Amino acid sequence: MRFVFAKIIFLKVKYIIFTILIVSVFVFYVTFKESFMLNRVTTRTIDISSVTLPNVVVHLDFKGSPLKLEYLESLFPLMKSHGVNGLLLEYEDMFPYEGNLTNISAKNCYKKHEVKKFITNAYNFGFEIIPLIQTFGHLEYVLKLAQFKHLREVQTHPDSICPNKAESFTLIEHMIRQVIEFHTSVVPLKYIHIGCDEVYHINECQQCLKRHLSKIDLFVHHVKTISNIVSSFSKETTVLIWDDMLRQITLKEWYSIDFQSLNDIEIVYWDYEPQVKVSHINLMKYHKKFSNIWIASAFKGADGRTAIIPNEKKRFSNHFSWFNLILDYKFGGESNVYNFKGIILTGWSRYSHMDPPCELLPPSIPSLIINLIFIKKIQEGISYDSANHNMDVIYKNYLSTDIKQSLLCNRVPLFGQNNIEWSSCLFNGVELYSSLKKYISVSTAISNELNNNFFFIKYYSKLKTINMNTVSDNIVWCNDSFYQLLVVENKVSNILEEYYKKEFIVEYVTYLTFDLKKKLHNLMMILNDYKKPRIWERGPIAYNNNNI
Ligand SMILES: *[C@@H]1O[C@H](CO)[C@@H](O)[C@H](O)[C@H]1NC(C)=O
Ligand SMILES: *[C@@H]1O[C@H](CO)[C@@H](O)[C@H](O)[C@H]1NC(C)=O
Ligand SMILES: *[C@@H]1O[C@H](CO)[C@@H](O)[C@H](O)[C@H]1NC(C)=O
Ligand SMILES: [Zn+2]
Repeated sequence: MRFVFAKIIFLKVKYIIFTILIVSVFVFYVTFKESFMLNRVTTRTIDISSVTLPNVVVHLDFKGSPLKLEYLESLFPLMKSHGVNGLLLEYEDMFPYEGNLTNISAKNCYKKHEVKKFITNAYNFGFEIIPLIQTFGHLEYVLKLAQFKHLREVQTHPDSICPNKAESFTLIEHMIRQVIEFHTSVVPLKYIHIGCDEVYHINECQQCLKRHLSKIDLFVHHVKTISNIVSSFSKETTVLIWDDMLRQITLKEWYSIDFQSLNDIEIVYWDYEPQVKVSHINLMKYHKKFSNIWIASAFKGADGRTAIIPNEKKRFSNHFSWFNLILDYKFGGESNVYNFKGIILTGWSRYSHMDPPCELLPPSIPSLIINLIFIKKIQEGISYDSANHNMDVIYKNYLSTDIKQSLLCNRVPLFGQNNIEWSSCLFNGVELYSSLKKYISVSTAISNELNNNFFFIKYYSKLKTINMNTVSDNIVWCNDSFYQLLVVENKVSNILEEYYKKEFIVEYVTYLTFDLKKKLHNLMMILNDYKKPRIWERGPIAYNNNNI
C-alpha cells in the first residue's frame, strides 16, 4: 500500500514538473517572441537604409522641343513630394545665347526672363539647379552651322569638336561663361554637367593625329581644360561628366593616366538597360580617380529612337536593377558600404539633336512617379530581402498603393503582360497618354493592313492586272484610314497645346503621320488610276523590275 502510494506521489511530481516545464517554455516564447521578430525586421531595415543617395535629380532634356515652363513648374510639388531635390537642365539649343553665339540657339529658344523665373522658382522649391552643356561630343546644334563648321573633328559629321584648335576653346569658353554667368546671377551653382559622352569622332583630324596622343590622353586633357575653364568662372562649382568614354580602358592603362588633375570632378555612370551591365572594374576605376560616383537611370527616352510611350516595366526594371547593385555596395577590400553621391533619372527627348522626338514628358509621368516612389522607399528602408527580390512583388506590395494615390487612379494600376494601363488615372498628361495610345493602335492597324494586304499592288499595277472588283472597296479603305489618321492627329495636336509651343507641335504630329499618309496617298493614286476603263494584254504577264 505504502509502495503504491509512493508510486502515485512520484507520478504526480513527475507530471507537475513536466507541466511546469511546458508552461515555462510557452511563457518564455510568448514573452520574447516580439523581440525576436523585431530584431529580424530591424536587421533588414538597416540593410536597406544603407542606400543613402543624397541627390535625386530629374533630367529635363529641352533639345529642340521646348516644354512650356509653366507646365514644368506645375510638376514641382509632385516631384518634391516624391523626393526630388535637383534638376539637370539640358538646354541644348533652347538656351538664349547672346552675341557671337546667338546662332547656336534655336529661333524658338526660351527667353532669359522666362528661364530666370523658372530656375528661381525651382530653387525656392528646394531643387539644386544643374545646367548641362555638352563640350566635346553631341555638339551638333553648334557645329552644324556654317559659322562653326571648321571646328568639327570630321567635316562630314557635325557631332564632335576638334580639341586641338584654339578657336574650339574660345567657343566653349564663351558658351560656358554665358551659362554660368546667367545661372550665378540667379541661383547658387553647386554643380555643372559638361556632358562628354559619346564622342564619336576623336583623334581623327590631321591636327590631332600630329600630336601622337592616344584617344584617352586627348579625352582626359580636354576634360581637364574644360574643368579649368569652369573653375575660372566659378570656383565653388563642381564639374560632372558622363562616364562612357572611360569604360573601355584597361586597368593597366588606367593607372598610367595622369588623373591627379581630375580628382575634383565627379563622374556619372549611366546605364538605361532593364538589366544594368555595370562593370565592377569600371566602378573601381572611377572610385580610385574621382571624388564621387553618381549613377544615372532612365525613366523615359531609352526604349527606342522612335518610341512614343515609355515601357514602364523596362524603366522600373532599370531602376530595380541599379538598386540591387548599389544596395550595400562595397568595393573589394573595403569594409564600409560605399555611398553613391546621387541618382540622375534621365528623360531623353531625342537620341540626338538630329533625331526625331522620342517619348514626351507628359505621358511619361507614371514612369517617373513609379521610380521616384521606389527610390524613396529604398531610402526609407523597406523590409526586402533575397526571398522577395522580385520586381513584381516589390511593385505590388510596396509601391502600387502609393502609385494609385499619386496618380489619382480609380484602381491600382497593375503590371500587364507588357505594360501598365494608366487610362483610369487622372494625372496631368493622361489625356495625351490616351490619345497617343489611340494613335498607336490606329497606325499599327493601318500599317499592318498595308504590309499584309497591299504589298503586291505596286508590282501588279505595273503588270496592269488588279482585280477590278476590289478596287472601289480598297479606295474606301484608303480614304477611311487617311481620315482616321487626321482625326487622331488633330486630337493629339490640340492636347499638345497645353504643353508645347506651336513649332514643336507641328513637327511632332506631322512626324507621327507623315509616312502613313504618304503611303495611303500613293496607294489611292494607283487605285484611282485603275478605275479607268482599259484593255488587258495577252499573257504571260512577267514584268522585269531590274530597271526600277
Ligand atoms: C566674335 O567673333 C569675331 C570673329 O570670330 C571676333 O573677332 C570677335 O572678337 C568676337 N566677339 C566676341 C565678343 O567674342
Ligand atoms: C548667324 O549666322 C548668319 C548666317 O550664317 C550670319 O550671317 C550671322 O553673322 C551670324 N550671326 C552672328 C552673331 O555671328
Ligand atoms: C472620305 O472620307 C470622308 C470622311 O469619312 C468622307 O467625308 C468623304 O466623302 C470620303 N471620300 C471618298 C472619296 O470616299
Ligand atoms: Zn582634331
